[in-house]
This record gives sequence, C-alpha cells and structure tokens, in this order.
Amino acid sequence: MCGIAGYLGFRKAYPIVINGLQRLEYRGYDSAGVVLVDGNEMSLYKTKGKVSDLKKIMKQNNVEGNLALGHTRWATHGVPNDENSHPHLSNSGNLVIVHNGIIENYDTIKKELITRGYTFKSDTDTEVLINLIEEVKIKNNCKLGYAVQMALTSVVGAYAIAVFDISKPNEIIVAKLGSPIAIGIGENNSEFFVASDASPFIEYTRNAIYLEDEEMAIIKLGEEIRIRKIQDNAEVVPEIQQLKLNLEQIEKGGYDHFMLKEIHEQPQSIVDAYRGRLLASTGMIKMGSVDNNISRFLNANRIVIVACGTSWHAGLVAEYLFEDLARIPVEVEYASEFRYRNPIINKDDIVIAISQSGETADTLAAVKLAKSKGAFVFGVCNVVGSSIARETDTGAYTHAGPEIGVASTKAFTTQITVLALIALKLGNLKGELSNSMYNHYIQEMSLIPAKVEEVLKMDKEIEKIAAIYKDAPNCLYLGRGFNFPVALEGALKLKEISYIHAEGYPAAEMKHGPIALIDEHMPVIVIATKKGHYDKVVSNIQEIKARNGKIIAIVTKGDTIVREIADHVIEIPETEEAFTPLLSTIPLQLLSYYIAVMRGCNVDQPRNLAKSVTVE
Ligand code: AGP
Repeated sequence: MCGIAGYLGFRKAYPIVINGLQRLEYRGYDSAGVVLVDGNEMSLYKTKGKVSDLKKIMKQNNVEGNLALGHTRWATHGVPNDENSHPHLSNSGNLVIVHNGIIENYDTIKKELITRGYTFKSDTDTEVLINLIEEVKIKNNCKLGYAVQMALTSVVGAYAIAVFDISKPNEIIVAKLGSPIAIGIGENNSEFFVASDASPFIEYTRNAIYLEDEEMAIIKLGEEIRIRKIQDNAEVVPEIQQLKLNLEQIEKGGYDHFMLKEIHEQPQSIVDAYRGRLLASTGMIKMGSVDNNISRFLNANRIVIVACGTSWHAGLVAEYLFEDLARIPVEVEYASEFRYRNPIINKDDIVIAISQSGETADTLAAVKLAKSKGAFVFGVCNVVGSSIARETDTGAYTHAGPEIGVASTKAFTTQITVLALIALKLGNLKGELSNSMYNHYIQEMSLIPAKVEEVLKMDKEIEKIAAIYKDAPNCLYLGRGFNFPVALEGALKLKEISYIHAEGYPAAEMKHGPIALIDEHMPVIVIATKKGHYDKVVSNIQEIKARNGKIIAIVTKGDTIVREIADHVIEIPETEEAFTPLLSTIPLQLLSYYIAVMRGCNVDQPRNLAKSVTVE
C-alpha cells in the first residue's frame, strides 16, 4: 500500500518526514517523493525507486522547511516512474496532494477537466483529484477545506489524502475513506504529524487521532484540530487516543506477523479486487481489459493457465470456474513444465498468467513462449508494472496491496475473485448463465467479504485445534470439485511455514493409495461443504474414521452430519459452491499459521523460501 508521512510544526520537517517514509517501507512501494515548504518557498523531489534514492536527490539541496508531505507509492494507476510518483501539484502549482487509495471514476473526471483546459503530466488518479479540488476552489473562491469537501463528494473510490495550499503554509487538510490515516498531535497544537500509521511519529507524540471513513480534518498550527463529516460538514468531536503500540507492532497492524495481518486483510483485499468491477447495484461486471478483448474471450477455443505455487492453485480453481460457469475448456499448467514441454498453442487460445509478484521466472518465461507462438496472453498480477504484467498483452491487477509474508494468502483469494468475475461475465455473455443467475452470483460475491470476516472470527477456535496437531509428522488434505485445489493450497501452506509434510488430494483418490497412510497419527483435513459432492465426502470421512484417522472438517454452517463423525468441525457460512474456495481456504491459512507459530518457525520468512522466485 502507499505510505503518507507529513509534518507541520516548529521542527525541521525533512528528517521527520524522510525517517517516517523509511518507517513505512514495510508497506511495499515502488517510488517515493517529498514536498517541502520553507516560508513561501516550495521544493519538490520525487523518484521511481526507494527512499534511499530520494535521499540521494535531496542531499544535494538545501532541505529547509517546517511543512512537508512525503509519500511512498504502491502503483495502482500508472506504472512506477518519476512523473507518476507523489506528491502531485495542481495546474496552478499552488495546491499539493499525497494520496493512498484508488479513485474509480478518475477517468471520467479527467476527461471533463481536460475539456475545461486542465492539463496532466502523470497517468495517476491523484493528479486528477488535486485539479478537481483546484477547480472547485477557483470556481467558488472558497477555502481549501471547503474545496476538498466539495470535490470528494463527486469522487468514487477509496482515499486517504493530505492537501495544502502553498499560499497558506500553516494548514493541512486531511480526508479519509477506505484507506487509513493517523494524525499525531504535539503539545499545545504546536506541531502536527499526518501518516498512514503512527510509526513515523510515535517517538514525538503518543496523542493521535485516527480519522474514520468520510471524515476530514482541518489542521492549523497553534489551533485545536477540527474534524468534519465530508458529506454534510457536521462537526465531529476529535477522539484523541493515547497510543500504546511499539514500532514493530504498528508496522504489523497490531498482529504478531505480517502473514496473520494479511490473512485478516482479506475482507478488504477482496473488496479492493472487485472494486469498480463488480457493480452489484446494477447487476453488472465491468473489466476494461476483458471488455476491450471480448470477442477473443468469447471465441476462445480454450484457456491455458500458467502459474506456480499458490497461483497455480488459484488457476485450478479458475479451471472449475470457467468450465462450470462459462463452459470454456481450460488447461492449467505448471509454468516450469509448460515452458520446456514444447506445448501446442493455437491462435485461438487465450493464455492466462497468474502471479502475485509478477516476477516469477518460470511464469515470465511461459508468457514469453506463449506470445512467441501467437497466443493472446492475459495477466492476473498484484504488483503494478511488474515484468509479467508488462509482458502480457493486457490483464487485471488483483489490488491486494503488498503481500509481505512469503506464504501467499490474500494473493490467493484476490486472484480467485478476479478470475471468478471474468468467468461470470463470459458465462453470461455466452448465454451459459441466465441473467437472473448472473445477478444472483453478483449479489453473492458482494456478500463474500462479510462472510470471510465471519470465518476470521473463528481465529481462536482454530488456534486451539492447531495446538492439538502441531506435532503431527504428516497431514492429509482432502477436497472435491472447487475445493480440491483448496486442499492442495492448504497442504502447501502447512508445508511451507511449519515444515510438516502435507499432501492434498481429491477426496475420492483416497482409495487409490493414500488411505494406506491412515492411522491414529494422521490428521486429515477434509473440506465437506454442503453443495460440494457432500454425500461422497461424508463417505470418505467414514472410511478414514474406520481406520482411526483424525478428522478436521470444514463444513457449511449448521452441518449436523459431519459433526457426528469428525473430531473437529470448523463452520463456514453458506455460499455458492463456486465461491466456497474464498471461504474454505481461510481456516486452512489460520491452521497452518498457528501450527507454525507453535513450532517456533519463522512464519513470515520460512527457511529456504523467497517471496518471489526470480530464478529457475
Ligand atoms: C505460496 O505461498 C508461495 N509463496 C509460492 O508458492 C508462490 O505462490 C509462488 O512462488 C508463485 O509466486 P507468484 O504468485 O509471485 O508468481
């Protein structure tokens, strides 16, 4: 995610803001920038790359000033480069903004501003926002706070912004919807800090306000902070908190590990993955990269998916989605095998490359091979501007935000979310999915984040189960249909962070060998959701119990049958079977996390593993 660090007060702003940006590096970013104001002198520095690169640029200059806004950018609109880095200025050069989030309707606003004479240097949604604010300010000859408020009422999306007017360098306007922003308050309002979390200012003050959604703050040196509701300007009484967290706890959002933080981010990251794409109010799915190539998708003979690891498991889920919902044949390939197998690629094939990092060497090579054979290649990546994203013909970003833990969690669920949207859209356009069913799936998808939240509430219950099985030498994971890939993914999670050997199988495969492994020492995690070949899975569970296997069952809420047979039952809310992977994977992520923690493993950086396998 982007990081914001700002300062207004009696100290030199530069060291506070630069150190603040370095504290926010854990959020993941691809460029950085700072604007400094000394009296009415403003200097702006920004660059693709790291904060260390920014410091090199600034070192040669006199970096005075008691007002500064700094930003680390995680690209969402516009590739990482100097021009797209923040801060951004309005056309007049008087207004300055830093922004974390996504303005969904920026393109429409940009086109309107261009017709009214505004020009743009960057490809960002943020530069559009600062010029919209400027237009409102000029048109109404009003204060900056009012201009920000008016502009935000016509914006759709998520934002945490800090804005100032160079002609009033003792004031900062802050606003929030969807993205976090904290305001540190110094003694007697003699200084203020604005940041994405408290890590940039925790050593200066522990008095902080966390803005709520649809709130804005007017910060003026020497005055009490004023907070308003953006929609109706209603006054909000500031709730100043006394921060207790230390630096490391702040970076992990109060969680013990990045992996646990990212598991709990999934309700939000799924929203971000479908934001602007799933239009539940109108029962539509919009995705430019698919809409602009819709004939290719509708006439595709088959879809070949290339990926590695967890992304390969997301590809397997996508196989069930595309074949069940859109009746398009799908083949899912390990990228490492595909690239060396001299595969047959036909011109009507669509190749989908799935990669969180967008840098996995085998997947990148598979993409290049597919393109060399004339295929149309579509990317599903998380990192904007990554090698795979740039190599593909087009694609859709998952917008999961940076995934710091080596074990993929929110990447998996956001990949499935994006691929499900595509499968649903194609299914309806091909006439395989009636309008009423299409709308039903769209409405159900909009309920998934809340259902994920419900599963996450079983965190402590799952921790108790983990304590029972943390010393198991081996583990089996079983699933059928949409949940067979989830069984594979659950096994991978356990393997890679707890170092327990685990295998995932289609549940029916037990009889073809693995059942020989079953005894009282073998925990078997079985996904037994109500609509997923339920009776067959119950039989598989009974076969295992007959051989003294220990069963941990993931069941649909209200299940009464499996509860009577299994040793442990974890309930997930009911949903369409096609969407159950988005819910059934959550307990498996938590189970592997707690087992790994109890075994003293390095959960965020497991041994032998890298976050992105950029070598063969
Ligand atoms: C999964 O938890 C691992 N981190 C690993 O299998 C990963 O999914 C694989 O290396 C692919 O990475 P990518 O999605 O960045 O291409």
